Amino acid sequence: MVKIGIVTGSTRKARVNMQVAEWVKDFAEKMDLEAEFEIVDIKDYDFPMFNEDLPPAMVNKQYSTDAINAWSKKIDELDGYIFITPEYNKSVTAPLKNAIDYIGPEWGNKSAGIVGYGSTLAVAATLSLRQILSNLNVATVAPFGAFSLFTDFENMSTFKPAEVHNATIENVVATTVSWAKGLKTIR
Ligand SMILES: Cc1cc2nc3c(=O)[nH]c(=O)nc-3n(C[C@H](O)[C@H](O)[C@H](O)COP(=O)(O)O)c2cc1C
Repeated sequence: MVKIGIVTGSTRKARVNMQVAEWVKDFAEKMDLEAEFEIVDIKDYDFPMFNEDLPPAMVNKQYSTDAINAWSKKIDELDGYIFITPEYNKSVTAPLKNAIDYIGPEWGNKSAGIVGYGSTLAVAATLSLRQILSNLNVATVAPFGAFSLFTDFENMSTFKPAEVHNATIENVVATTVSWAKGLKTIR
């Protein structure tokens, strides 16, 4: 059994992010894999903009506030992640990048899938996130979700994904889970 965190990528009040995260969680649970899925909402953690004295790799998982220690513990206990990311100016949101930057070794030697959405399918954000995660030794799986604000959301606000995406999302989830199992053996 592996534990996979479905990590949110937007914190604004009117975000559509949580709808996509919940849909992916339901979808993944129906696949009946040897895996548990939980939503890890970056909005639940009180992060100021990163301004620590030392970079995360030098602090041995002991951080300056309870919120960051709680974030560290949560990310540490997971075996893999599925990031749900919108695209803001051709990359991920500042809150997601900030949350990733706060900790370091907790991410390492784990797998990740990416599910993006946006008016241009969040392809640029997905590529940017792959590059960020590679620096933390996170292995991102090849398939990725690419939902359109125009055709997978009603009125650009209610998530109604086209069925054509199902095979890809299945691939994202299955590969993330199998790599999570494989990478567990080297941690
Ligand atoms: C600051 C900002 C920049 C954006 N830049 C892009 C972009 O580069 N590409 C894109 O497809 N959509 C872009 N969008 C549109 C978002 O994809 C869209 O607003 C989406 O609903 C945001 O996700 P959220 O509602 O979960 O926050 C941008 C939105 C904001 C607020």
